Amino acid sequence: MSTETRPPLPTTGRVTSRVRGEVAEKLQQRLATYAFNPAEVPQLGENRHVELEIGFGNGGALVHRAQLAPQTLHIGAELFLDGLKSCVHQLETQDITAKIVRLWPQDARVLLEQLPADSIDRLLVLHPDPWPKTRHHKRRLVQKEFLDHAQRVLKPEGELLMVTDWADYAHWMLAHTISHCGFVLQSNNPADLATPPADWTKTKYQNKAEQESRHNWYLRFGVQK
Ligand SMILES: C[S@@+](CC[C@H](N)C(=O)[O-])C[C@H]1O[C@@H](n2cnc3c(N)ncnc32)[C@H](O)[C@@H]1O
Repeated sequence: MSTETRPPLPTTGRVTSRVRGEVAEKLQQRLATYAFNPAEVPQLGENRHVELEIGFGNGGALVHRAQLAPQTLHIGAELFLDGLKSCVHQLETQDITAKIVRLWPQDARVLLEQLPADSIDRLLVLHPDPWPKTRHHKRRLVQKEFLDHAQRVLKPEGELLMVTDWADYAHWMLAHTISHCGFVLQSNNPADLATPPADWTKTKYQNKAEQESRHNWYLRFGVQK
C-alpha cells in the first residue's frame, strides 16, 4: 500500500466498547438528531460564535459550555461510542437541542479536512491521548498536518486551545505550534499557562490526572492568516 492510500494512524488506543448490538443501533438513531454536516456551517453558524471540541470523551465539558453559551454553535467530535452515548444522554436529559450542539461521531481529522476555511472561532483539544512513549509520538493528534487544518478552518480572530496534563506533550504542543508559524502564543507569563479559561469545567481526564499529581497546561494560541 502506498503512503497516499494508507489510512492515517489511529490517534487513540481505545479498541473495545461496551456499546454493542441493539444499544449501538439505537445510539445511531439518537446521534442522527445531532448529526453535523460540515457543508452546513455557513448557515448554522451565521452570525454566531462557532466552537469545535475534538475528542470530547464523555462530553462533560461540551455540555457545560453549551449550557453557559446556548447562543454559540458547539460542535463536538468523538469516535469512542461510550463517550458518544454519555454525551447524547446528557444532551437529551438537559434539553439541549441540535440548534446548540452538533456531533461528529468519527475521526476529527476527516472533519477538519471537510470544514470550510474561516468557519470556527475556537478549536478546543482537551487532554488528547498523550502517547508518552517516543515510538508512539507519531500517533499524537497534534502534528503539522493537524495544525495546517486548524489554521485553515479558524476564523482570522480565532483561537486554538490545547490542554494537557502531560508536561512532555505540552512541550511538544508548544514546540510544534510555535514553529508552525500559523499561530501566536497568547500567554504572556508562566502563570497564564496554568490558568483555565473562564468557561472551564474539569474534565474526566483532568480529575484522573490530579489524582496522579499531574496538573494542566492551558495553551492558548491566536491564529495568523
Ligand atoms: C484522553 S481522552 C480525553 C477525553 C476528554 N477530552 C477529557 O478530557 O476527559 C481523548 C479522547 O479523544 C478521542 N479521540 C482520539 N483521537 C480522536 C480523533 N482522531 N477523532 C475524534 N476523537 C478522537 C478519544 O476517543 C478519547 O475519548
